[in-house]
Amino acid sequence: MAKPAERTEGDGGLVAGVAFRNVNKIYGKDVKAVNDLNLEVRDKEFMVLVGPSGCGKTTALRMIAGLEEVTEGDIAIGDVRVNDVPPKDRDIAMVFQNYALYPHMNVYDNIAFGLRLRELKSFFWQLANWSQAKTIKADIDNRVKEVARMLDIEKYLQRRPKELSGGQRQRVALARAIVRKPKVFLMDEPLSNLDAKLRVQTRAELIRLHRTLGITTVYVTHDQVEAMTMGQRMAIMKDGVLQQCDQPEQVYKYPVNKFVASFIGSPPMNFIDATITGGKVDAGAFSLPLPAGHAALAYEGKKVTLGIRPEDIFDANLASNIAPSEANTVDAKVDVLEPLGHEYVAYLGIGPHNVIATIDNETRVKESQTSKFCIDLDAIHLFDAETEQAIR
Ligand SMILES: Nc1ncnc2c1ncn2[C@@H]1O[C@H](COP(=O)(O)OP(=O)(O)O)[C@@H](O)[C@H]1O
Ligand SMILES: [Mg+2]
Repeated sequence: MAKPAERTEGDGGLVAGVAFRNVNKIYGKDVKAVNDLNLEVRDKEFMVLVGPSGCGKTTALRMIAGLEEVTEGDIAIGDVRVNDVPPKDRDIAMVFQNYALYPHMNVYDNIAFGLRLRELKSFFWQLANWSQAKTIKADIDNRVKEVARMLDIEKYLQRRPKELSGGQRQRVALARAIVRKPKVFLMDEPLSNLDAKLRVQTRAELIRLHRTLGITTVYVTHDQVEAMTMGQRMAIMKDGVLQQCDQPEQVYKYPVNKFVASFIGSPPMNFIDATITGGKVDAGAFSLPLPAGHAALAYEGKKVTLGIRPEDIFDANLASNIAPSEANTVDAKVDVLEPLGHEYVAYLGIGPHNVIATIDNETRVKESQTSKFCIDLDAIHLFDAETEQAIR
């Protein structure tokens, strides 16, 4: 059986990339966990698979690892189809949410364990030559210490897992994966068990590690903030179906459908039922002009969904990069104003529409009063009311 190809540097192709080609996974008779997935993770890329619980993220990851059989389609690591390659020969390392360290081993041995297992074969081969066996042992020692230094757990090498905090244990789990220098890292919600502060810190550390090591990584999370901040690209899934795969800024600016638009961003995008009338987006209580040549002009007389992100609504009385004009300004009643320090989250009523806006903390608007707000017309989103696909 063909082994996954050796890693070679620099050509930017699918050297140690991961590819899903028309992959389906059906559990039992009819649970379609992954539905015709096509996705190419590039060599050295940090790809985040994101979506709500049950959308098939873990299943997709486990198929890369070989822990789950592929019902239909192909999975490749590098240019080798791995459907039938056993997990141990795929040269991957996986970190889970519930990482299990060996409780009876200290941190050093936990990290070294996988290396020793892997070297065992060559160790026996080389048993006759004792000096080479010693070289292997010294090499393992160097690598364990190097990784421990990288993850700042050198001080704990002699401790047992139960003598560590949750965050330190998670680092040991990461160290154990990294030390093997795999071709591909697979991570399934590895930060979920950490408290908020540690999560943010570890997030940054993982990004730094990826920059240093440059190992192709597929990272699974249900958290859109992790996806936005960590992913070089992100793949958004829903009900086993890939919705969009692109750089975070692109997904944020140009969501392909209403689901992606609502999933990415916090507070979430506002959605308002509207009709295209006379070249305008008519939401009843207010209407906004369409930019010349906009694809939605073809929707004359039809229903659409208007999408406005909270940060694209401004207090008209504050200087901002949006100049208030009759076309972009609406009257809104401020129902609730939540101070966040650097800004306010304002719950607005524009006629019958409830809309959330994030407003600069210099604002003078008051709860229960009606004020003028302007909307960045270049940043509005429009979706087909029936198909929920973006109109552009
Ligand atoms: N071993 C299994 N047997 C049957 N159904 C499963 C199994 N594992 C997952 N599923 C189902 O497949 C779908 C996707 O699950 P999963 O990949 O775990 O989603 P996610 O990781 O995105 O939360 C869900 O509907 C889940 O209930
Ligand atoms: Mg999961």
